[in-house]
Amino acid sequence: MKRMILLWAALLTTAAALAQPRIRIEHGPYLQNVTEEGFTVIWSSTADAAGWVELAPDDGSHFYAAERPKFYDSHLGRQRIGRMHSVRISGLQPGTTYRYRIMQRGVVLNEGNKRVILDEGYGNDILKHKPYTVTTPDPAQERVDFWVVNDIHSRDSIFRRLIRTAPEEKPDFVCLNGDLATQIETRQTLWDACLASASEILTPAGIPLVAVRGNHENRGVCSGCWSDFFPTPTGETYYTFRRGPAFFLVLDGCEDKPDSDIRYYGLGDWDAYRQREAAWLKKVVESEEFRTAPVRIILIHMIPGGASSWYGEQQIRRLFVPELVGKGIDVMLCGHYHRYQWIDDGSRGVDFPILVNSNVDRLAVSADASGIDLKVFDTAGKLVKQQRIDKK
Ligand SMILES: [Fe+2]
Repeated sequence: MKRMILLWAALLTTAAALAQPRIRIEHGPYLQNVTEEGFTVIWSSTADAAGWVELAPDDGSHFYAAERPKFYDSHLGRQRIGRMHSVRISGLQPGTTYRYRIMQRGVVLNEGNKRVILDEGYGNDILKHKPYTVTTPDPAQERVDFWVVNDIHSRDSIFRRLIRTAPEEKPDFVCLNGDLATQIETRQTLWDACLASASEILTPAGIPLVAVRGNHENRGVCSGCWSDFFPTPTGETYYTFRRGPAFFLVLDGCEDKPDSDIRYYGLGDWDAYRQREAAWLKKVVESEEFRTAPVRIILIHMIPGGASSWYGEQQIRRLFVPELVGKGIDVMLCGHYHRYQWIDDGSRGVDFPILVNSNVDRLAVSADASGIDLKVFDTAGKLVKQQRIDKK
């Protein structure tokens, strides 16, 4: 009899354990591609799950006051199952604040077309987080304020110090200008490099990320995971966006050495990628959106080549610079050298200044139709360099 009771107790314990949601939010969320009409939310779960985002207006109502619209992590009309979740919320109004929460259902059983069983829902409601908020840009915004950090190379403690005051200072976005990690061997690499901290510090303040691929992000088993973390409007690592008065051109110089270099194990195809990018760039600079923007800023990790530059920089100069000269670019913001440089002597073949940010400082940029202020702050928050570009 005693043995039967123990057996029942064990069965009940097992059943109770199975009834618990087993899959949790692992990392994130963070915000991407915040536009006047939508935004993208990225996070990861501890195991395979189907994810979605619930949206509510910021009108003082309780989140449970009504059934809220759901936006699913789906591809070609079917919800995706996996650990990385990317949900695009669209159809929004400009200059408007929304509340959102991320949700997911873990996979209990997946027998393909025979049977799929999903767990109960688990989201940031259970974590007792208030719903997150995000504000879509107002097209009438006359100034854009943003921060740039680069070459973090997985020094998360430096990254945290550089961005810690963002929730109070509220830049429109934080740009990660390449080489967040030295190579990407697993998805965890990027979370550990700085993205878990970015989510923790920036997301509650509604501050999105803008990502630029560096040369080092081409390396490692999971280098292709980059696009899972940073989906773009073009589906490529080069893209554009508008924020306030500024048109932003995000470029990718790819690797720094020739494709045939022994370190790339015969896998390099960056020459072709840069050529396709240059053809796309030619169309961008002819576009109405580019030509009519009051301010034009380039974000790129590597720099157009000088006299003693490596192959990748030479290719940026050969392929991209001819499309940019004479087009009214105001400034190019780079990293890669791990030390500050202000290059405005035309030595890189361009007709605009280039600011190279170091790997231990944060660049704060404030731009409007009258000009651009560029201020460099160290990890203690001390102003260490500044430049002003007058447009009038
Ligand atoms: Fe680099």
